[in-house]
Amino acid sequence: MLNSLLASDHDAIDDLFAQSETALKAKDHERALALLDLAWARLAVHIRAENVRLFPRILRSGDRLEAGQRERIASLIARLREDHNFFMATLAEAIKLARALSEDEGRFAQVLEKIEAVKRRLSAHNELEESMVYSLPAHLLDEAELEDLKQAVQRELENLPPRYARGGEID
Ligand SMILES: [Fe+2]
Ligand SMILES: [Fe+2]
Repeated sequence: MLNSLLASDHDAIDDLFAQSETALKAKDHERALALLDLAWARLAVHIRAENVRLFPRILRSGDRLEAGQRERIASLIARLREDHNFFMATLAEAIKLARALSEDEGRFAQVLEKIEAVKRRLSAHNELEESMVYSLPAHLLDEAELEDLKQAVQRELENLPPRYARGGEID
């Protein structure tokens, strides 16, 4: 199912952020940075799957809806895209700060603050996607179209940067 594929990706990414915070609080900077970098890479891939595959496919099948519904969905998707931009920009700053941590411990609170800001907004964002957006394709598409979309999303999710291509485990 498309819904569970993307929802379980949310869970895996949440877990990486939580692990990164734990390492950060334990002053294990190297591990915190590695986990943060992996969380960022996984989230970037997830966002690309939504921006490039899921959202355009939903919007393309909007003619199967009445006008009011179509507008509501389009504005919801625009809002989700804004969240995506916020996540990527804030995480880029967090990673930059985290890289400087071994020389400048004073940045610790700032890194944590950025991760917290992403986690808070991500939690509401994921809730909105899981409760509304992810179930739309099943209403809008026929079985073959749905299967094509699921496979396209799956391929995007597997398309991690080469350094993480084999499972992306961090010891
Ligand atoms: Fe999203
Ligand atoms: Fe998502």
